Amino acid sequence: MKIVVAGTGYVGLVAGVCFAEKGHDVTCVDTDDKKIKLMEAGISPIYEQGLEELMRSNFAAGRLHYTTDYKNAYKNPDAIFIGVGTPELPDGSANLGYIATVSRQIAENLEKDCLVVVKSTVPVGTNDKVEQFIRDFLVHKEVKIEVASNPEFLAQGSAVHDTLHAARIVIGTESRHAEKMLQEIYEPFKLPVVSVSRRSAEMIKYACNDFLALKISYMNEIANLCELVGADIEDIARGMSYDTRIGSNFLKAGIGYGGSCFPKDTKALKFIARQYGSQLKTIEAAVDVNAEQKTRLFHKACDRMITFQNLKVAVLGLAFKPGTDDLREAPSVDNIRLLLESGADVYAYDPAAEENSRKLFPEGGIGKGHMSYVDSPELALKGANICFIFTEWKQIKSLEANQYKELMQTPLVYDGRNLYSPAYMEQGGVEYYGIGRQRRQK
Ligand code: UDX
Repeated sequence: MKIVVAGTGYVGLVAGVCFAEKGHDVTCVDTDDKKIKLMEAGISPIYEQGLEELMRSNFAAGRLHYTTDYKNAYKNPDAIFIGVGTPELPDGSANLGYIATVSRQIAENLEKDCLVVVKSTVPVGTNDKVEQFIRDFLVHKEVKIEVASNPEFLAQGSAVHDTLHAARIVIGTESRHAEKMLQEIYEPFKLPVVSVSRRSAEMIKYACNDFLALKISYMNEIANLCELVGADIEDIARGMSYDTRIGSNFLKAGIGYGGSCFPKDTKALKFIARQYGSQLKTIEAAVDVNAEQKTRLFHKACDRMITFQNLKVAVLGLAFKPGTDDLREAPSVDNIRLLLESGADVYAYDPAAEENSRKLFPEGGIGKGHMSYVDSPELALKGANICFIFTEWKQIKSLEANQYKELMQTPLVYDGRNLYSPAYMEQGGVEYYGIGRQRRQK
């Protein structure tokens, strides 16, 4: 099938590349000419395992094309997938500006019947509006368009794998024709397909992401309580994980969830409920719990220290999770801001997100503090008075207790990812604080 994908971010590019991999003829459209040139040279604009290999092989096979010429691209495809961003507005609602721009461009250029598929996460009811909007602005009035919802469930860092081996494909359609077309597009994937109405498909996406965010916040609250009652969250999670009704995933307590989806989608659903005169108390609680959780370790450290002024602070990990260079809503950002405001001399290490962090915190004096970047965790730890762990990269996980002990001036570690057992660290001579853990264990 002849497919066009609008937007070459995580959702759009990965979808386009995977459709090509499954034999479709795919054109990816983006407004950024530089980005298009890079992609044609086989270079991915996003850091994602396995993506460049597939970009190169499918481009070479002639199944994958890139263009800024949307006018031509939107003329006569069988289906157009919209995968542009829907970033959060200050009030928590989703910004549909990019969706509107693409819809307008489609309407003005489409010359043949086409299925428009919205992959971006959008508030319930948006697909209805997109369909109406495109019909209103269609230049070739005889053209028949239908809009379908096909939410994306990929996680950053494993996006290609998650797309090719998705647990399920959700399609939301309002006609048998649209349903059949999407089933045909996904037929080569050989995956279970859940076929529902458009509004239900839109809602499934929010319900999934928000449930996972809720699960994490629940574990974070239980972890915080564990510290008070003398229990250990890692044991609690292990004990819970065998209950198949609960499952073993997303039970990891820590420094709070970040990234482009959970923070945005919890706030968006909260906003949607309020718009309808309702309230999602559980999700509102998750949003609040997460906001507090992000700086919990910093405040814990404040209780222990007289000052951060002129202290060397090692920050291990900046990305919101390993396997990505993404800093959106990353707990490291809030913490570094607080540390710099407190006069700390921050030495940060991250194998992928340094460049993005430099845009927020350039090297040099910031506030009362000072920011530096180093190329290894060891360099960050050298001579440090305190260390914060924010991302569970393997380069950080593999550090041993004696390295903290020997490299740091004062081996004091605040671990937002519970990478070590407190007993192991303390036996190694490190004063160690995790999330929801007991400092002294049997
Ligand atoms: C998420 C969803 O997993 C994906 O299905 C959706 O389409 C987009 O949002 P992503 O944001 O890429 O994907 O990452 P994910 O691995 O889900 O992690 C999100 C955040 O939750 C990270 O900050 C991670 O550290 C945190 N997390 C995850 C926990 O704190 N504990 C856990 O047990 C799992």
